[in-house]
Amino acid sequence: MERTLIILKPDSLQRGLAGRIITRFEEKGFQFAALKLMRVSRELAEKHYAVHKEKPFYPRLIEYITSSPVVVAVLQGNNAIAVSRKMMGATFGSKAEPGTIRGDFGMSNSFNLIHGSDSPEAAQFEIGLYFRPDELLAYERASERWIYDMSGGEPE
Ligand code: RTP
Ligand code: MG
Repeated sequence: MERTLIILKPDSLQRGLAGRIITRFEEKGFQFAALKLMRVSRELAEKHYAVHKEKPFYPRLIEYITSSPVVVAVLQGNNAIAVSRKMMGATFGSKAEPGTIRGDFGMSNSFNLIHGSDSPEAAQFEIGLYFRPDELLAYERASERWIYDMSGGEPE
């Protein structure tokens, strides 16, 4: 099973959408390996978004992500990165397809409600930035065998 980091950005909480967004991932069948409310420090934001340092939107992005608390979570599931990114939709709320989180809840390009890791390498790096190892929980879910068809030995 793959793990990925998602962040419900400040606009998600300020607009009272955090619960509904979390519910979408729960209903889809993801397992939560970690979940917490926190304020992102400037130092942490700069580490996370170092790849965007030269982009024109970088200063505003750092301002945005540190402006108010966020919810961070580690989602676990088969192909978790691709599946969760698809649920988020295109980066800009104005372009994202209806049915996606950004497409259903957002109008803005910068304030786009949610972050998700975009590769296994990014997921590993980002999970390590936001969570200590002991905050990642492994546990059995009663529903697991109805979320995946395991009859072939692999989740289908
Ligand atoms: P994320 O990293 O947050 O999951 O989003 P993403 O992969 O879809 O987008 P990315 O290109 O990594 O950009 C990171 C975040 O920067 C803000 N942004 N604003 N106004 C703009 O032109 C612009 N472009 C990017 C967004 O908050 C975006 O999620
Ligand atoms: Mg990105």
